[in-house]
Amino acid sequence: TYVVTDNCIMCKYTDCVEVCPVDCFYEGENTLVIHPDECIDCGVCEPECPADAIRPDTEPDMDQWVEFNRKYSEIWPVITQKKDPLPTATEMDGVEGKLGKYFS
Ligand code: SF4
Ligand code: F3S
Repeated sequence: TYVVTDNCIMCKYTDCVEVCPVDCFYEGENTLVIHPDECIDCGVCEPECPADAIRPDTEPDMDQWVEFNRKYSEIWPVITQKKDPLPTATEMDGVEGKLGKYFS
């Protein structure tokens, strides 16, 4: 599966949702997640993210992100259409450790 990771938080560009063939992105206030059981591993969303926040779970240390994506995809509503990025997107793109500071 692919997962949304830290750098989506406070950016939420949403380019990713337009290309997903199975509509498996879910939207929270500050970030999106992918449902790990619905993602078909096509990979087309990965290069679409301006914040480079989407990663394959085959990369190291992705377990916590798979769990994060699973947890919130079961709570949040699906998102299938692009919308404006968050007003903080530019300033927050690339900031380290956003999960601990800006998501609770
Ligand atoms: Fe959707 Fe494909 Fe991205 Fe999975 S890898 S979230 S199926 S676009
Ligand atoms: Fe987030 Fe990137 Fe999508 S910032 S909303 S994963 S395009």
